[in-house]
This record gives sequence, structure tokens and C-alpha cells, in this order.
Amino acid sequence: MQSYSLIAPAKINLYLEIIGDRPDGFHELVMIMQSVSLADRIELQASDTQKIQISCDHPQVPTDKTNLAYRAAQLMGDTFPQMYANYGGVKITIEKNIPVAAGLAGGSGNAAAVLVGINLLWKLGLTQPELQDLAGELGSDIPFCVSGGTAIATGRGEQLDDLQPLSNMWVVLAKYDQISVSTPWAYQTYRQQYRDTYVSDTPGVKSRTEKVSSGALVKAIAHHHHVEIGKSIHNDLEKIVFPAYPLVAELKAAFAAQDVLGTMMSGSGPTVFALCESEAQAIAVQQQVRTQIPDPQLKFWVTKFTKKGIQVK
Ligand code: C5P
Repeated sequence: MQSYSLIAPAKINLYLEIIGDRPDGFHELVMIMQSVSLADRIELQASDTQKIQISCDHPQVPTDKTNLAYRAAQLMGDTFPQMYANYGGVKITIEKNIPVAAGLAGGSGNAAAVLVGINLLWKLGLTQPELQDLAGELGSDIPFCVSGGTAIATGRGEQLDDLQPLSNMWVVLAKYDQISVSTPWAYQTYRQQYRDTYVSDTPGVKSRTEKVSSGALVKAIAHHHHVEIGKSIHNDLEKIVFPAYPLVAELKAAFAAQDVLGTMMSGSGPTVFALCESEAQAIAVQQQVRTQIPDPQLKFWVTKFTKKGIQVK
């Protein structure tokens, strides 16, 4: 039976601004997304069972229809029923290396890998933009996971414009095992607290987006100016997550006290990352924060920016 092995990198947000409400109930966002080398490995195998089967080595990952990777396979089956009938079912094996429910798009990346893999398995010949259109139906950050690299994401997060790709910055990621933040909760709470700041008319949304596109962070990325990148990162959801999860706020403060380019929560959290110039600096920062917060539930990863999205191995 034909099979494919795919690498699905995690992402961090270098920027997340909530602009306003959308008619579909989601939020109008401007984000800058960055892929990192920490990645899951997805094995896709054709099976003659006419079923979608998932297995994963991580106990917290569901193996039923609630897994985005399952829904990605189902979407491909529904969109291309003839191919589903011809090729049969698909066995999806997930090797989890990205922390779960962490704000690092681990689940989204797995779904992106399934779309890319089934495109190959069923010889569909879909282009990357076509795969990204399908990805957008499943979740707001899945289109980015398909292409990866460094990109500005607008709309729900599904409209992408590539930026000058960055690759030689190092990242320390830190997450408490026992803390997980619900993304819908974070956005709903933001809406409750900041609705009066929302812009929802098209020209207003456009001008906020343009401000970010011509702003300090995009300029710093274009010039590979690491110090400026570190100074310009921003995430609106910190205002919601930090008061509710003080340990996450303290974790960011611990990173900020180190020799780092910048530190921030990724997505809706609870992962906090710190940007560093070198691997040695990243390892030193990790050791310092580990010593300062000697909680065995606090886990660390040292990784690096990557230019790549889903890769076939
Ligand atoms: O698209 P995704 O499933 O990743 O979104 C998860 C949740 O995050 C949504 O159900 C919604 O509550 C919130 N969200 C939002 N606006 C966006 C993206 C996500 O309100 N643009």
C-alpha cells in the first residue's frame, strides 16, 4: 500500500491584533505568523477499509472525529468522493512532538499535512492555493500551516501574504503541562472587554491592516533586523490570558529579565516564547528560566525559525 511521511512544523505568532467583528462571528485579525522547526511527523497510508483511522503516541490527542486531522481526511473524501471510493480509506499515524493545546497550531499543522498527503496519495494534482482554500474551511490558521515560513495573515487568518522568510533566529518555547487555554474563550472574553475599540467597516479594517503591513515589525522582518523584530512583537490576547493565568504572565516576566531579543505569548497561549540570536543563547536562557521557576510541570523546547511549511519526507 502506498504511504507518505510528512513533517508538520509548529508556528508562533510574532504579531496578533484583533481589529473587529466579522459577520461570520469570527474576528477580523492581522497576524504575523512564523514557522519553527519543532514539528510533528504524520504518516499517511492508503487502506482498503474505506475508513479514516487515526493513531497517535500522545494520550491527550483524540483519535476520533474531533481531531482536525480526521476532519481534513473527511473533507477530502467529501470533496473527491470518486477518489475516496477508488483509493479506499486512509490510516493516519501522528508522532506528536509539538505540545498539545499550546497556541502553536499543532492540530492545525496535522490537518494541513493530511490535506497535502491525501493530495499525493490520491494523485489529485491540487495546487498549493487550492489546498489552502480547502484548509480555510477547516480552521483559520491551517492555510498558513500548508505553506509556512513567514507571512502576514488577515481576514479570519486565512488570507496570506508571504513576507521575506526568516530562518536564522532561535526560539525558546515554554509551556506549563497543566495549563490549557480555550481559544474561543479567549476571543469571546476579548470581545466582552474591548468591543468598544472594534473597527468593523471595510475601510477601517483596511487601514488598520495597512498600518501593520507598513509598520515596524514588517520593516524589521524585511531588513532581517533581529533587535527590531524582538521589540515590535505584539499579541492582543495577552491582555485576556495573563490576568486569568498569572503563571503565564510570570513566565513572560522571567523571560523578559533574561538576555533575549523579545518575549511573548503565542496565539491564545499558554505557550510563551523568547527570541534569541543563537542556539547557545537560547539554551542559556532556557536554563536560567528553568532555575528561576523550578516547576517540573514547566516544559521547554529550543527550536529555530524555518522557511518551510508541510514537507514530504
Ligand atoms: O478557526 P479556528 O477553529 O482555529 O478558531 C478557533 C476559535 O477561535 C473560533 O471558534 C473563534 O472562537 C476564535 N476565532 C475568532 N476569530 C478568528 C479566528 C478564531 O474569533 N479570526
